[in-house]
Amino acid sequence: MTEQHFIPENFSETRPNGQVAWESPSNIALIKYWGKRKNQIPENPSISFTLSHCKTITTLSFKAKETNDTFSFDVFLDGNKNEDFKPKIQTFFERVEQYLPFIKDYHFTIETKNTFPHSSGIASSASGMSALALCLMSVEKQIMEKEVTLNVVERSYNEKYFSQKASFLARLGSGSACRSIEGDLIVWGETKVVEGSSNLFGTKYPYPVHDIFKEYQDTILLVDKGEKQVSSSVGHNLMHNHPYAQNRFQQAHDNLEKLKLILKSGDLDAFIGLVESEALTLHAMMMTSMPYFILMKPNTLKVINAIWGFREKTGLPISFTLDAGANVHVLYPKRDAAPILEFIKNELVTYCQNQHFISDQIGFGANQI
Ligand code: DP6
Repeated sequence: MTEQHFIPENFSETRPNGQVAWESPSNIALIKYWGKRKNQIPENPSISFTLSHCKTITTLSFKAKETNDTFSFDVFLDGNKNEDFKPKIQTFFERVEQYLPFIKDYHFTIETKNTFPHSSGIASSASGMSALALCLMSVEKQIMEKEVTLNVVERSYNEKYFSQKASFLARLGSGSACRSIEGDLIVWGETKVVEGSSNLFGTKYPYPVHDIFKEYQDTILLVDKGEKQVSSSVGHNLMHNHPYAQNRFQQAHDNLEKLKLILKSGDLDAFIGLVESEALTLHAMMMTSMPYFILMKPNTLKVINAIWGFREKTGLPISFTLDAGANVHVLYPKRDAAPILEFIKNELVTYCQNQHFISDQIGFGANQI
């Protein structure tokens, strides 16, 4: 399949006004996407757990306008007009325009809020961009359905096409956002290890998964709520001409092959080894970029060491992963939640800014509201 698949033919001329709303979750990668080519094509495959509680809720109002020479939109975060998001959304609109032929015909009002605090250091781009992509798909669907009833257009808005294109559009906003449309395990990036995988959109992990992973917990420790010194986009670009890039990209394919066996067998020791290695490899890539940078903070390392100490002492299958920042995602099976939460509350919260952490768990994707 190519990008062409998502360019609608014989697009309807009708432009109804209306309002749609979606809530879309964040996700946490087990095998990390780090390095991309032109048009948001990943250099390596990644796989993530979709989260359940960390979500963005977006309402999109659309009103047909007279002229169609520019993009026209306002953004509100928590009810307040927000100018900071506009450049990113403008870039997103430019990237998706050829796939959404109606986009310049409308004035959009985008009202968005997150279930997690905006200044928590948790990236809202995955949940935010996926929610917006889904809203735009609902607009496309409304326009096309009007035609379908007139029997003019044959394209069926089946669920598969809808989610695939939503993921495809979300990817053009932020790569990892394409893994937030569905759950509970989503693969993005073409690899022979996973049948049906694509560089263009996320796909549901299609192989057997042991019950232990079905209700996996993710407690997010907010070690640093500040603005990141180096954005993900800059970090991805530093993988061009990176001395270890080719080996790292190959390693992601190999790790996915290994993870397949682990997900089937439920081997938690192997899971912990693989996931923690992926997290540290991601940060090793940052440290060995030129210019080099470090996103972990002293408390990130203190948390990691405390987790290792607790695991050694108790034998409980607690592990961590990191995103592109200082916060730590603590991963563990639900059956071990009681003693691990106790440990988090007694020993790890002291390393969090204002003792702040968020309890989340594996989820099943976005919902229309
Ligand atoms: C470390 O998806 O934020 O979280 O495509 O430039 O928006 P852009 O990058 P982004 O990168 C996420 C990187 C990561 C790993 C991952 O989620 O796979």
